[in-house]
Amino acid sequence: MLLCLSESKVPDLKRRFGLSRDKPVAGMAQGASVDPAWQLSRTDLRRTYDSYISIVEKDAQKMIQLTDKEKLYIPEQVVQSRIKAFEDAKRVNAAFVEKVLSSLPADKPMISTDRVMADEGQEHKKRQALELTHYPGIRLGSQSYNTMGSVLLHIFRDWSEECTHVVRDVYAPIVEQVKLRLPCQSRAPSILIPGSGLSRLAFELKGAGYAVECNEFSKIFATFANYLFNDCETSSNICPLSHVFSENWKLADQYMQVNIPTKFPSQARHSFSGSPSSCFSSLSLSFASPIRMTTGDFVSLYNAKDGPAHRKFDCVVTCFFIDTCDDLIDYIQTIDSLLVEGGLWINLGPLNYKKELRLKLTWDEMEQVWIQLGYRFLDVRKLHTAYHLASGIKMYTEQDSDDE
Ligand SMILES: C[S@@+](CC[C@H](N)C(=O)[O-])C[C@H]1O[C@@H](n2cnc3c(N)ncnc32)[C@H](O)[C@@H]1O
Repeated sequence: MLLCLSESKVPDLKRRFGLSRDKPVAGMAQGASVDPAWQLSRTDLRRTYDSYISIVEKDAQKMIQLTDKEKLYIPEQVVQSRIKAFEDAKRVNAAFVEKVLSSLPADKPMISTDRVMADEGQEHKKRQALELTHYPGIRLGSQSYNTMGSVLLHIFRDWSEECTHVVRDVYAPIVEQVKLRLPCQSRAPSILIPGSGLSRLAFELKGAGYAVECNEFSKIFATFANYLFNDCETSSNICPLSHVFSENWKLADQYMQVNIPTKFPSQARHSFSGSPSSCFSSLSLSFASPIRMTTGDFVSLYNAKDGPAHRKFDCVVTCFFIDTCDDLIDYIQTIDSLLVEGGLWINLGPLNYKKELRLKLTWDEMEQVWIQLGYRFLDVRKLHTAYHLASGIKMYTEQDSDDE
């Protein structure tokens, strides 16, 4: 069960708390390095995939290499079907990873925000749908979201036909709230999405005409987001759940094969001619400029004191993000510092905090913190959503596990 809220600052109350709202705007490119630190090298990606496969293989082998006792109970047919499903999934995922690998520079860093295709001997520049920037010295790489399993599940969540319910139930209500509360008029309002994952929400908001900046901590997520937005021109099959051994009704649930992506952002950038959006005459105009992505820890990048990417936004959207914090007050303080007077915070997601987190506020307590900061809640409601697989497919979906 998830909560959705939107809220807006009340300027008078804000002043009462004496918080400065007029820091100079630090433009995205100012002081930014075109350091490719955000991207996995081919070697890193191969290592990440190999370690994923060896863990999955270990688990699968227990199902395949039975003990004498197990052999008495488990029909041979069950074992043979498992071997075939496992081998097929391994082949499918390996082919996809090879495709991503071959899109990476040959263990040589990229040197420009306009991609240089180092492999081809001569440099040629490619326009981007997602422009990634890493600021030197910023912490990069989340512990929980740096695995192949996690990235496969998020590709499934954001870019597969089987998860269109995620777009409908999670992202569409956010886009609807943004359009309602922050309509595009003469300029495209600016939106920041911290912890944007594989950035489908950013794609939807960009398509609706907004100026979108997103931020992602995990290097593997940034690498795959870059692939999906900038390099991917043909679809691939993946088996995103082959490492998920629990709560399966049947083998086909665990080894489900899906085709991704359902949309090609790089094509939207150049030739999208969808139906008119509320802001612009066509989506192709919305994609005339890229979505920007900063890589690294949200607080280090955006805090008002010394965050190199800190600037004002009309709206901050946190979607399944607020509970990823190491310090809840750091997140709240940073989001507050980013919003213009009257700006909008939209949050959707559970409060599924890390065990070690010090301050685990309930939603009610969280609301009181924001009200004390001078915010007014415009809408708070409960939404039922699934994180990836539609509910009812797995045997027990109360607590979705999105990793390993
Ligand atoms: C639960 S996932 C949600 C991803 C995406 N918002 C979605 O709804 O699909 C949380 C995301 O936040 C990112 N994240 C976690 N801690 C972060 C931090 N300190 N700064 C930036 N991103 C972070 C993770 O890497 C992951 O992509």
